[in-house]
Amino acid sequence: MIRPRPRRNRRTPAIRDLVRETTLSAKDFILPVFFHEDAENTPISSMPGVTRWSVDGLVKEAGEAFALGVPAVVLFPKIEEALKTSHAEESHNDGGLVPRVIRALKAAYPKLCIITDVALDPYNSDGHDGIVQRDEHGELHILNDETVEVLCQQALCHARAGADIVSPSDMMDGRVAAIREALDSEGFQHVSILSYTAKYASAFYGPFRGALDSAPKEGNKKTYQMDPGNSREAIRETLLDEAEGADMLMVKPAGPYLDIIYRMRETTTLPIAAYQVSGEYLMLKTAAAAGWLDEKAIVLESLTGIKRAGADMILTYFAKQAAVWLK
Ligand code: PBG
Repeated sequence: MIRPRPRRNRRTPAIRDLVRETTLSAKDFILPVFFHEDAENTPISSMPGVTRWSVDGLVKEAGEAFALGVPAVVLFPKIEEALKTSHAEESHNDGGLVPRVIRALKAAYPKLCIITDVALDPYNSDGHDGIVQRDEHGELHILNDETVEVLCQQALCHARAGADIVSPSDMMDGRVAAIREALDSEGFQHVSILSYTAKYASAFYGPFRGALDSAPKEGNKKTYQMDPGNSREAIRETLLDEAEGADMLMVKPAGPYLDIIYRMRETTTLPIAAYQVSGEYLMLKTAAAAGWLDEKAIVLESLTGIKRAGADMILTYFAKQAAVWLK
C-alpha cells in the first residue's frame, strides 16, 4: 500500500527549489516614485523610508532601481498648491513637472519603462480624481464624461513626453476606450494602457495622500472607487476594460484583495498587476521597525503571496529593497 508522504518534496533545499511553484524576481516589480519641483530630497513623514525626490534625485533613484533589475517606475508628482484648479489644467501642461521628468528619465535611461498615473487628484483643487460639481443642495458630484476628456488630454501629454505606459487610476466609466482612441488618433498606437480595473475605496491609501497632499478636500471617493465588499463587480470591470482595449489590468490594494486577483486571473488572459499600497507598506515597515517582525521575511512572503494569487507584476515601495534581497 502506498502511503502519501508530501514531506518528501520538502526534504532538502535542492528538492524544494525544484518543486517551488512561485518565484519572485526583481523583474516582477514596478517602483512607485514621488517627486516635486524643489531641489531638496524630502523624507515623507507618512511613509518612513520613502522620499519625495527632486528631479535630479529621482533620476538617480530610478537609475539605481533599474540597475538592480527593476524594469519600471510609476510617477507620482506633488504639484504646488498654486497650480491646482477645479479643472486640473496643469495635468496636461507639456511644460509641467511630469512631462519634464519623463524626458529627463528617458534621456538618462532610455530602456527604463516609464508608467504614468492618469487621474486628476494631484492637480485638482478639490482633491478628487475627477472634476467636481456642487449642486443646489451643496452635494458634490464627480462629472464622469467631462473628466474623461481631461484624462485623454493628460494621457496624450504623457505620451508626447515619451511615457511607455499610461495608467488611469481615476475609475471613471469609459476612460480606457476614450484614452485608447485619443492615443491612436495622435499616432501613439505603441503606448500601452495599464488600467486600474479594480480599485477599491480603501483606507490603505491614507499615507499616500499624505505624501502628495492629495486627499479630497471634502467627501470621499466612494462614488467612483469600488466597495470593499464587492468581487463580482471586479469581474464586470475586467470585462469592460478588456473590451475597451486595456493592455494590462490592475488590482488595488493587493494584500487584502488576493481573492480579487485570483478571480480576475481566472477571467482574463491579460497580464495582471497588483498594487501593494502605502498602507500595506506602512504596516510591514512599522512592525519591522519596532522589531516585532523580520522585515526581509515578511516583505518577501507578502510579495510571494500576491504573485501566487495570480499577479504578473507588483507595484511596491519595497521594489529596490526586495531586488537587493533577491540578488
Ligand atoms: C490617485 C491614486 C491613489 C493611489 C495611487 N493613485 C490614491 C487615491 O486613490 O486616493 C494610492 C497609492 C497608495 O496608497 O500607495 N489617483
